[in-house]
Formats: sequence, structure tokens, C-alpha cells
Amino acid sequence: MPDPVSVSDRLRGMVPTLSVGVLAADLMNLERDVRLLEQSGVKILHFDIMDGCFCPMLTAGQQFVKAVKTSLIKDVHLMIQDPLPKLESYVAAGADILTVHIEGCLHPHRIFQALGQMAGPAGKPVRGVGLNPGTPLSLIEPLLDELEMVFLLAINPGWGGQKFINSTVRRVETLREMIRKSGRNILIGLDGGITRGNIADVAKMGADIVVTGSAVFEGKKVVENAHFMMDAVMSGQKG
Ligand code: DX5
Ligand code: ZN
Repeated sequence: MPDPVSVSDRLRGMVPTLSVGVLAADLMNLERDVRLLEQSGVKILHFDIMDGCFCPMLTAGQQFVKAVKTSLIKDVHLMIQDPLPKLESYVAAGADILTVHIEGCLHPHRIFQALGQMAGPAGKPVRGVGLNPGTPLSLIEPLLDELEMVFLLAINPGWGGQKFINSTVRRVETLREMIRKSGRNILIGLDGGITRGNIADVAKMGADIVVTGSAVFEGKKVVENAHFMMDAVMSGQKG
């Protein structure tokens, strides 16, 4: 049996790093693109799950997460309303990181407690909370004991290829201070609007996991783009 804390430990050993949004891949050639990411040294694959209610688009679900065979860590970003009844099936589908948006939860604390009791093929998933750009950070302070990661969206959920919202810079600083005060070792993720043009600045913000979709698949230069984005994320740490 896998060590139940192994995903969390593996993640902590590889940050800062990139998580690449799979929906921006060429879906007619998905296997090829996933293999290219693996060969590029990318470690995490990001699945954007939208239900058409929480946000306008409808994307993929549990079967898609399960169907993608890869050595990459599966980072599942649930942008769905009322996630509790569906969590178990995403964990069973192989979600290594499972992020739930606080805006879609009536009882968020109960949801993260419940998620803490679940285990899938790779052990316990890393519990992440997602926050839209307009959601106050104070909402998650009471949840910190039940979390391993906080994902701040730098765009409003629904589509890739949107522009990075600059107030995210202040939000990361506030979040870091909140985490420091809690004494907990919680990872910070940033998602949305991260491109070749702003990745160097984003990297300086000190997030642990940087999600990027369209920038990696742009121009079909997956390996070159992935190297560029990964190098930038890692050099932000040194600077
Ligand atoms: C938005 C998603 C993001 C998005 C990232 O709802 O959560 O993960 O697809 O795509 P880019 O990098 O193109 O902004
Ligand atoms: Zn996402």
C-alpha cells in the first residue's frame, strides 16, 4: 500500500513547480501531449472540472481524470457546485490533489474534514481550497487546520487564456502572512492568466505551484514552452 502522506511529501519536495492545464492540450492527440509533458520534466497535470453551474463551461469529470494514464501527479481543480457528494468519486478516479472552491460549499469545514478521511489509489489526496479573485481570504482562516494547499485564482473561473488580475499580488502576500500565523505548512498555488510574458514576475510572488494552460500548448511547442515556464518558476525561487 502506498504511504498515505506520500503525495503531500512528494509535492513539498518538488516546489516551486508547474502544474499544466490538460484542457489546453490538443485533445485529439492527448496521449502524445501528455507524454511530451512527462518528457519535459513537468511533474503535475491540472484538470479543470467545470459543471456548467458554478461557472459557465462544462468540461470533463471523473471518467476523464481516471482515463488519463500518466506518471504525473493529478491535480484536480473542481469548479463545481455542492462538491461533497462527488468527492469520493474524484479521489477514486486518482486525484492526488483535490481542490474545492469555497464559493461552491455550504459547509466548507465539513467538506475538508470529510476529504481528510478519504483515500484513493495513491493514498490521501492533498486537500486544496480554491478562491475566486473576488472572495475574501478571511473565509479560509477557520479552515487552515483541514488544508494542505490554497489555490488563488488570478482570473474568474470558466476559461483559459484570460488576463491575470493584478490584485492577486496583494492577495498572495496576505495569504502568506495568514499561513505563517497559523503555524501550518500549507502550500500556495496560483492559477490563471500566467503566460511567457508575466511568468518571471509571477515566480517572484513565491507561489509553490503555478498553474498554466494555454502558454504551454501555444504554437504546439509543448516541450520548449514547458521548459521556459519551468525554468522561470524555479529561478523565481533563487532570486
Ligand atoms: C480557469 C482554470 C484555469 C485555466 C488556466 O477556470 O481554472 O486552470 O484553465 O488557463 P490559462 O493558463 O490559459 O489561464
Ligand atoms: Zn484550474
